Amino acid sequence: MSTDIITIDGPTSSGKNSVGFLLAQKLNFQYVDTGMIYRAGCVAILKNNIPLSDKDKVLEIYKSLNIEFKSEDSERRLFLDGEDVTDILHSAQVTKIVPIVAAIPEVREVMKGLQRKIGLKENMVMSGRDIGSEIFPDAKYKFFLTADPEVRAKRRFEQLAKKDPGVKFEDVLKDMLDRDEKDTNRKVSPLRVPKGAKLIDTTNLSVEESVDKMLSYMTQSFK
Ligand code: C5P
Repeated sequence: MSTDIITIDGPTSSGKNSVGFLLAQKLNFQYVDTGMIYRAGCVAILKNNIPLSDKDKVLEIYKSLNIEFKSEDSERRLFLDGEDVTDILHSAQVTKIVPIVAAIPEVREVMKGLQRKIGLKENMVMSGRDIGSEIFPDAKYKFFLTADPEVRAKRRFEQLAKKDPGVKFEDVLKDMLDRDEKDTNRKVSPLRVPKGAKLIDTTNLSVEESVDKMLSYMTQSFK
């Protein structure tokens, strides 16, 4: 049975997750945020005290990654070895190491196989940095979301401030720009607009408006 894939790529806090989740709900598709998988590997790396210089052990973590997504209370939660780790996926420690780990070519190769396996199981909206360019280049519908850096940092800041009232906007902005820089300039699968992707600037759009825009592009069958 062939399945449909809709890819959404874009930088941090461009709206991929909220938009992807709602789009999937409306279409009755599954939603997978691949950033959560990269982050889950980093949780395992930190738990096992693996130094990032030990590439073999880092790679082993991704090769044996035992993860499961579950939908709960209108959000996707991720279980690592049976434990719900969703709430620590966006911790400062994980956020610091994830772009470094994600730039390791062998890790991306393992992740490619994993993401393809997940994506081919059922109709799916999948978001990340290279989903439309590397993982599913032949996807029927591809989107690239973007937004002004200040607006993206504000979104991230508001999410983080709910859990940590001490968080500073300037730090969030700086970390975000640093991560964008690493994701855009890495040698393997850098963040870029995939060929054939529709660009959507979400700076002044609500989640609903972004999804409506995507659905209207899809009905016009822009490919
Ligand atoms: O989307 P999120 O901010 O959670 O992703 C965390 C990091 O994981 C990104 O900054 C990037 O380094 C990496 N990533 C990636 N490719 C993907 C998804 C995430 O390189 N498809």
